[in-house]
Amino acid sequence: MAVFYDEQQRIFVLNTPDTSYVIAIVDDGYLGHVYYGKKVDTSGIRYLMREDEPPYVPGVNRREKNSFLDMFPMEYPETGMGDYRETAFCVRSSAGHRASELKYEGYEIVPGKPALEGLPATWGKEEDCTTLKLFCRDSLLNLQVCLMYTVFEKLDVITRSVLVENQGQESVYLEKVLSACLDLHDRDYEMISLAGSWARERHIQRTPLQYGRQNAASFRGTSSHQEHPFMALVTPETTQETGEVYAMNFVYSGNFLAQAEKNQFDSVRMTMGIHPEGFTWKLEPGEQFTAPEVVMVYSDAGLGRMTRTFHDLYRNNLIRSPYLYKERPILINNWEATYFDFDEQKLIDIAREASVLGIEMLVMDDGWFGKRSYDDSSLGDWQVNEEKLKGGLSYLVEEVKKTGMKFGIWFEPEMISPASELFQKHPDWAIQIPGREITQSRAQYVLDLSRQEVVDAVYEMIAAVLHSADISYVKWDMNRHLTTLGSSGLPGDRLGELMHRFTLGVYQLQERLVREFPDLLLENCSSGGSRFDPGMLYYSPQIWCSDDTDAIERLAIQEGTALIYPLSCIGAHVSVCPNHTVGRNTPFETRGHVALAGTFGYELDITKLSDEEKELVKEQTALYHKYQGLIAKGDYYRLSSWTQEGKPDSWMVVSKNKEKALLFYVQVLARANVKSSFLRLQGLLPDRRYEIDGKVYSGDVLMHAGIRIPAMQGDFRSLLMEVKAVE
Ligand code: GLA
Repeated sequence: MAVFYDEQQRIFVLNTPDTSYVIAIVDDGYLGHVYYGKKVDTSGIRYLMREDEPPYVPGVNRREKNSFLDMFPMEYPETGMGDYRETAFCVRSSAGHRASELKYEGYEIVPGKPALEGLPATWGKEEDCTTLKLFCRDSLLNLQVCLMYTVFEKLDVITRSVLVENQGQESVYLEKVLSACLDLHDRDYEMISLAGSWARERHIQRTPLQYGRQNAASFRGTSSHQEHPFMALVTPETTQETGEVYAMNFVYSGNFLAQAEKNQFDSVRMTMGIHPEGFTWKLEPGEQFTAPEVVMVYSDAGLGRMTRTFHDLYRNNLIRSPYLYKERPILINNWEATYFDFDEQKLIDIAREASVLGIEMLVMDDGWFGKRSYDDSSLGDWQVNEEKLKGGLSYLVEEVKKTGMKFGIWFEPEMISPASELFQKHPDWAIQIPGREITQSRAQYVLDLSRQEVVDAVYEMIAAVLHSADISYVKWDMNRHLTTLGSSGLPGDRLGELMHRFTLGVYQLQERLVREFPDLLLENCSSGGSRFDPGMLYYSPQIWCSDDTDAIERLAIQEGTALIYPLSCIGAHVSVCPNHTVGRNTPFETRGHVALAGTFGYELDITKLSDEEKELVKEQTALYHKYQGLIAKGDYYRLSSWTQEGKPDSWMVVSKNKEKALLFYVQVLARANVKSSFLRLQGLLPDRRYEIDGKVYSGDVLMHAGIRIPAMQGDFRSLLMEVKAVE
């Protein structure tokens, strides 16, 4: 059974195919965390609570209650009573006291998975998952806290969320409602997180866990370029194929805290949720608050298994777009081709040239609206600039369609330029603190999407553009972080709600968009990859991964991104050389191979390519059509890493039935005086025979001895090899 209550041991057991998670009701009504890890027979497992060891007997040994609270593996620890580790929950009463004691009251086990109101979340059919609800209460404040756990029965995934209801007579202020906490015992761990910057997102970093708190966080109002709402604790010997992994990923796009804390007794507490800094939420009597979802994955077979579990979950149970497995049109985006300097004729010329090379959609990027000819005006004025685009949007779209291409468009709906008609009309719509200069970033302000009238007005402007012409795709951008946090829509004691309400406003906008335009292909973006997170994937099947389109820089960015997210989500384009961000020259083939491990498209002035490059575009677009099904649906295996190990970068995608695979290999720097090398493949069937480049090998030889990789002259060379099972 996936979820059951063992009455004799007073424990709840949650089982996935290969993992068990166990929670105990202990003396005095506390909930304790017993076990999470490889699937086990849970009979007799309660001894792990060490209840016979002083001072762990709260009902008997009251004089040591503080010691108990500060060392017991709490399932959902609270602030104020004696647990000095990072707690998960902090509430301030109307009298100003910060304390609560959540005691177990009862449980419910329900088939399926309840939706989280207003929030993105994984979903599952009744036959795919089961949800355990544990009800706890703070009797003084009369607050009910429901801990929700959903067990996916075919995947090693447990998701968590928390629902708080004020059943008392007075308002309370929630100051921290983390979504998950996990106490682990006595083991050495290393912490894996994803860190970076603009154009350098999600580089994998791995460090030994020390005493104290180590975290990844964002206070920027997005999940950010700099850190990522993901954390994995791994045993030191963990590789792609071996070792234990405890991973958490947050289905949320705003401020977050992902933390590991090693304490005085060598136990480790892992927590994740909305960052408490600057957060408060006033909960009036009768109101509820829902904390966003955390996805937990455990693997005892290394990082590779963890990766494939996340990929399967996000493809099967998070991304709702009809384009998930549909062949997405190969697009060409004019940003790196023209920046702001274009007119209708330039775009039509690009479309005409692109269409004969196998490209299927033109995306018009920033600069088509208001008076925008640089980045310093017009955000919020979502009407086409007819001086720039003569004949208006419908003329341009129809001309592009005559070439056989579809048409896509760029928006930045959450923003307002000081130099815009919208700001002239509604200066109070920008997030701001009265009397203070609003911090500009890229010469723009952020719209106050905590206010419903602002959400409605923005939505109507965007929907009007989308109704005015045949538009197949939207790139939804977000190019600055939040500052000067004030809102004329919120009273002083609710200002701590602004960041979360802003994120809920974004979710509402995107929900309305995908409902009203169900055939629209939506791609999220935030100065490249500042909001590449599972929350966004609930609305859009793909996210622009980074503004850095250099194939070599992309190796690290895409490796880190693919650690959690399926390749079909990773926006990746071929661009020109020298690359606009790093100035590097790489072979056109390599740029194609790296972009093929993503959504694939172009971002260059195709009218300026040489004939030889145009032939390569034809070959690449044909490769995309040949392999996109495999890349979108297959299993991802990381073989070696340039940034992690200083080795050539290589990875594979293997079909679920293991009949077909693709091997990607980028040698990065060429070396002198070397022979060919052998690269060990993964994910094949050992007793199957496979053909590669006309030669036949057995699966076990390919996986244990390896495929021969020729020595290649020249930096940045790459190979793409098809692996095909034969009789
Ligand atoms: C952001 C995006 C780019 C491009 C520009 C336009 O930086 O990441 O792809 O759309 O905005 O201003």
